Amino acid sequence: MNRPKNIQLDSNGKLRHFLSIEGLNRSLLTEILDSAENFTSVGKQQAKKVPLLRGKTIANLFFEPSTRTRTTFDLAEKRLSADVINIDINRSATAKGETLLDTLQNLTAMQIDMFVVRHNSSGAAHFIAQNVPDSISVINAGDGRHSHPTQAMLDMFTIRREKQDFTKLKVAIVGDVMHSRVARSQIHALNILGCPEIRVIAPRTLLPLHIEDLGVHVTTNIDDGLAGVDVIIMLRLQNERMSGAHLPSKQEYFKDYGLTSKRLKLAADDVILMHPGPMNRGVEIESSVADSDNSVILQQVTNGIAVRMAVMAMAMQGNIL
Ligand code: CP
Repeated sequence: MNRPKNIQLDSNGKLRHFLSIEGLNRSLLTEILDSAENFTSVGKQQAKKVPLLRGKTIANLFFEPSTRTRTTFDLAEKRLSADVINIDINRSATAKGETLLDTLQNLTAMQIDMFVVRHNSSGAAHFIAQNVPDSISVINAGDGRHSHPTQAMLDMFTIRREKQDFTKLKVAIVGDVMHSRVARSQIHALNILGCPEIRVIAPRTLLPLHIEDLGVHVTTNIDDGLAGVDVIIMLRLQNERMSGAHLPSKQEYFKDYGLTSKRLKLAADDVILMHPGPMNRGVEIESSVADSDNSVILQQVTNGIAVRMAVMAMAMQGNIL
C-alpha cells in the first residue's frame, strides 16, 4: 500500500515545512535536537548572529496572542541574519475581511521565503503549506488544539539536556490535555524518541476521547500519577477554548490537580518541572513550586531560540545557495 505523502518532507526525506510531529521519525527529531545544540553557542557570542539565512525574508503571521513563541521566533530569525517582517494582524487587511488565502497570495507576491504561522484554527498551517509555491517553507507556531511542534521540540531539547536518555524516563503531563496542542505534540515526540512511560493526569472532563490510543497511561488521580516520575509537565487551563462548564471552579481545580510542594515530593528526587507557559500561578501550579530548584521553565524559553533556529535552518536547507 502506498503511504500518503508527508508534505513536510522533500523527496530526499529532508525537512521542507515543520507542521506537526506526526509522521516524522526518530532520526529527524534527533537531527533537530543535535542541530539546536550547536546553535546554543550563538546566544553566548558577543555578536549573536550567524549568516545562514542572510538574504532570506521571513514573515511572522500571528493570528493569536503569543509572548514566548513570537519573540523567540523573531530572535531566532534575526540570529540567523534573515530579514524579518512581523505582520500586525489587527492592523492588516484581515481586519477588513481579507481571506487568509488572499493575504498569503499578496505576501507571496512580495517574495517571502518562509511563513511562521500561529492560528486558532486546527489545520491552518497545513492549509497554508498546501497553498504556497514550492519555494516557500511554512513553520507551524501553534494551530488550534492540533499541534505546536516547535514547543514540543524545545521541550524535548530541555528534557534531553537534563536527563540524557529518553528510553529510561517516566513523564507525567498534567492538566487541560483536552485543549492542549502542546500535549498532543509532546506525546508524539516522546513516543518517537522512545520514552517508555507517558502518564496523562487530568479530570475526565479535560481528557480527549481515545487519548489512550496515543500510547499513554491515563489517571484522574494526581497523587498516583506523579509517583516516581522523572519529568512533570504542567499545562494551563485554557479557558478561552472552553465552550461549556468543564470544572466546578479554579479553587477546586487547584485543590484536586494543582502542583503543590507536597505533591512534588511524590516524584523522583531529581524530577524536573516544566510548563510551556503562560502559567496561571495558584491555578495549576503553586507559585513557590514554579520558582523552585526543580523548575526548568525559564530554560525552556531560552532553549526555544536555538531549537527554532535549528528548525528554520533545516527547512531552508534546500533553499540556501
Ligand atoms: N508556549 C507558548 O506557546 O507560549 P505563547 O503563547 O506565549 O507563545
